[in-house]
Amino acid sequence: MRQRVSYGLNLLLLALLFSLCVYESHCGSVRDVEAIAPVISPSVNPQPFLPLLAPSPLTPFTNGSVPTLSGLCTLNFTAAGDMMSKTATDCWAFFAPVLANVVCCPQLEATLATLIGHSSKYSRMLSLNITHAKHCLSDVEKILESQGANKTVQKICSIQPENLTEASCPVSKVDAFESIVDSSKLLAACQKVDPVNECCQQVCQNAILDAAKKLSETNIATNLEGVHVVPEQSTRIDDCKNIVLRWLASNLDPSSANKVLRGLSNCKVNKVCPLVFPNMTHVVKECANVITSQTACCKAMDSYVSQLQEQSFITNLQALNCAASLGAKLQKANVSNNVYELCHINLKDFSLQESGCLLPSLPSDATFDKTSGVSFICDLNDNIAAPWPSSFSEPPSSCNKTTKIPAVPKATSAQSGLYSKNLMLPSFFSSLVILKLFL
Ligand SMILES: *[C@@H]1O[C@H](CO)[C@@H](O)[C@H](O)[C@H]1NC(C)=O
Ligand SMILES: *[C@@H]1O[C@H](CO)[C@@H](O)[C@H](O)[C@H]1NC(C)=O
Ligand SMILES: *[C@@H]1O[C@H](CO)[C@@H](O)[C@H](O)[C@H]1NC(C)=O
Ligand SMILES: *[C@@H]1O[C@H](CO)[C@@H](O)[C@H](O)[C@H]1NC(C)=O
Ligand SMILES: *[C@@H]1O[C@H](CO)[C@@H](O)[C@H](O)[C@H]1NC(C)=O
Ligand SMILES: *[C@@H]1O[C@H](CO)[C@@H](O)[C@H](O)[C@H]1NC(C)=O
Ligand SMILES: *[C@@H]1O[C@H](CO)[C@@H](O)[C@H](O)[C@H]1NC(C)=O
Ligand SMILES: *[C@@H]1O[C@H](CO)[C@@H](O)[C@H](O)[C@H]1NC(C)=O
Repeated sequence: MRQRVSYGLNLLLLALLFSLCVYESHCGSVRDVEAIAPVISPSVNPQPFLPLLAPSPLTPFTNGSVPTLSGLCTLNFTAAGDMMSKTATDCWAFFAPVLANVVCCPQLEATLATLIGHSSKYSRMLSLNITHAKHCLSDVEKILESQGANKTVQKICSIQPENLTEASCPVSKVDAFESIVDSSKLLAACQKVDPVNECCQQVCQNAILDAAKKLSETNIATNLEGVHVVPEQSTRIDDCKNIVLRWLASNLDPSSANKVLRGLSNCKVNKVCPLVFPNMTHVVKECANVITSQTACCKAMDSYVSQLQEQSFITNLQALNCAASLGAKLQKANVSNNVYELCHINLKDFSLQESGCLLPSLPSDATFDKTSGVSFICDLNDNIAAPWPSSFSEPPSSCNKTTKIPAVPKATSAQSGLYSKNLMLPSFFSSLVILKLFL
């Protein structure tokens, strides 16, 4: 907690500059957000989103200077200008590390795929060579930084120049691609991705996998780049998937490409718990087998959970996965009592900070406007008890319609517009919310 004091204080100061983002009028993208969780049986009424506030352009963080580019990158940044600015906002200065997994990095990856895809129309290549990749990645970072993004997005998102090359995929020429892959079938499956159903039905994902498999099986000898060691088939398939995504992006307009790519990465995002679980020794000591002191056990649990709260914002479905993984780990260590119930652990306790904000499960972006600055959406369905896994079961899957997941955070579609009037809170209150979330 201590680490974050200065972070919190920054926000406190900045909070004074803000006005509340009344999303109906300012945060347009909120309207598009709908919920995923088809299996939800809500036990609470949905609460309105509360957009989080961040600095206006008055802040010293936005470096509006014109970046000096290498002159050696042939990607057309103008063609994906909207995606670039969306990425800059999603990866905005000090939110970037805490929005990395759900918002910033998926958007950055989508933008890179689109830039390369677009350039393939002229270069006829779905990859960059390593020298070119270095220049381009550095230029992308400079442009993003000049629009307010964190200086270290490459590091935050673990993107290296190699990620813009063909890596181990044996095919990267557009003509070869189109002679190997049934491109009309691929395009039909992927030109529109329904972000709710795609994650379960995998229509586009299966088409991409098929295409990537075909590409990866192409005779490697025809690749004259002189690869020394032929990597594992699974690595090749993964690398070819990137090529497929770029091809898709080149065949869609930038805005559709962005929707499709974010929809696809979102399926991966929600399948996992991105938190790192620290050493549980103390909790196990106080809570395993017969609990002798409920106070001591819950104190240990609270302190454990507060370590998780230092990590990042997560989506409501990720929180569910985190609750399931931690529960399973505790059970394996002989903590058999439902310590979530005993100690009143809620789903949002798994997200950043005590009064945590769970991000919506559908792709969402930070938004920027002159009056409200940078804001993003929290799905404030408070106090939904973290479900304790039954024995050693698999984490509940939101694709299994017969599974009853008690009180998963409610779908967010209902909120679009409906509750917006309630959000016209005095700015005093919005400062309080920021304090609550960040101090
Ligand atoms: C703005 O960013 C550029 C690099 O993109 C850097 O050279 C310059 O010093 C920055 N200016 C300020 C005021 O931070
Ligand atoms: C880059 O894209 C923009 C918008 O699509 C277009 O007007 C411009 O001519 C392109 N520039 C180059 C060098 O291809
Ligand atoms: C940018 O991200 C790094 C983490 O990689 C973080 O330490 C730093 O504070 C962020 N920059 C700003 C301006 O918040
Ligand atoms: C890498 O790509 C750039 C841009 O397409 C090209 O100018 C350059 O010759 C290529 N370098 C190599 C080593 O192929
Ligand atoms: C970039 O490539 C490295 C390996 O070359 C990989 O570990 C990493 O996950 C890739 N990053 C992204 C964002 O795909
Ligand atoms: C966890 O912490 C305990 C003592 O605090 C230590 O003995 C143990 O080795 C640690 N376990 C791991 C896996 O780090
Ligand atoms: C769990 O309890 C059983 C029986 O009480 C014991 O044999 C086992 O070692 C314990 N496991 C752990 C991980 O503490
Ligand atoms: C769905 O959940 C039910 C009840 O929990 C379980 O019996 C069934 O095996 C699950 N189906 C799948 C496909 O996981």
